[in-house]
Amino acid sequence: MTADVTTSLTAPDTGKLVLPSYERPAGLHPPLDFEGYRSTKLRHPKQPLVLLPHRLTEVTGPLLGDQLIAATDSDLTTQHDGEPQGQRIIVAGRVLDSDGRPVPDTLVEIWQTNAGGRYRHWREHHPAPLDPNFDGIGRAITDAAGRYRFITIQPGAYPWGNHPNAWRPAHIHFSLFGRAFTQRLVTQMYFPGDPLLPLDPIFNSVSDAKARQRMVAGFDMELTQPEWALGYTWDIVLRGRGATVFE
Ligand SMILES: [Fe+2]
Repeated sequence: MTADVTTSLTAPDTGKLVLPSYERPAGLHPPLDFEGYRSTKLRHPKQPLVLLPHRLTEVTGPLLGDQLIAATDSDLTTQHDGEPQGQRIIVAGRVLDSDGRPVPDTLVEIWQTNAGGRYRHWREHHPAPLDPNFDGIGRAITDAAGRYRFITIQPGAYPWGNHPNAWRPAHIHFSLFGRAFTQRLVTQMYFPGDPLLPLDPIFNSVSDAKARQRMVAGFDMELTQPEWALGYTWDIVLRGRGATVFE
């Protein structure tokens, strides 16, 4: 733990350590039990949640350093001998706090299907082909301006058995780690204009229309590279009125 972190955790009036805890804000994030999303019934807590304040161990435990992240970790198209099938895309944005300040040194991890809508996972049932050149897993560390950037393939829609003819809209799963491994946020990024969005119970489990839109990336012509890849911009806001919705 560095002296800077200790100082920032000290209450100015008493000089005592104040360790952060993260209560789930009411109203913004999807309910833990949502009727339209069938399997939430099986795994939502049945008892009231108990808030456990972080102790020094959780807050100051080991962190991933950027030296552990290789360049190919954020380029999902160069992790194998050949290039994966599908539309090449760039997904980039910033991680921001509630005041719009950039959040540097945050581990951002993504996972997604291949172009045919299939995950590389032993429980995957979708009869779309696996792509030998695509794992669908990436990670990056935000830079000093809070920026992350991935090169990947446009994911496909996939059936998920929640209800008759249920298809998930194309999406990329995101996980963010904060100051410690206990500070983890998980969410999904969607693509603009997807006709499956109005039909998706997971997307629509977020009741606020503006908050739903904050899960949809913007097509970005400036990020788009000629003759090479489409660009999508998606900023992740950790809290406040413009907060990104987390699962
Ligand atoms: Fe998914």
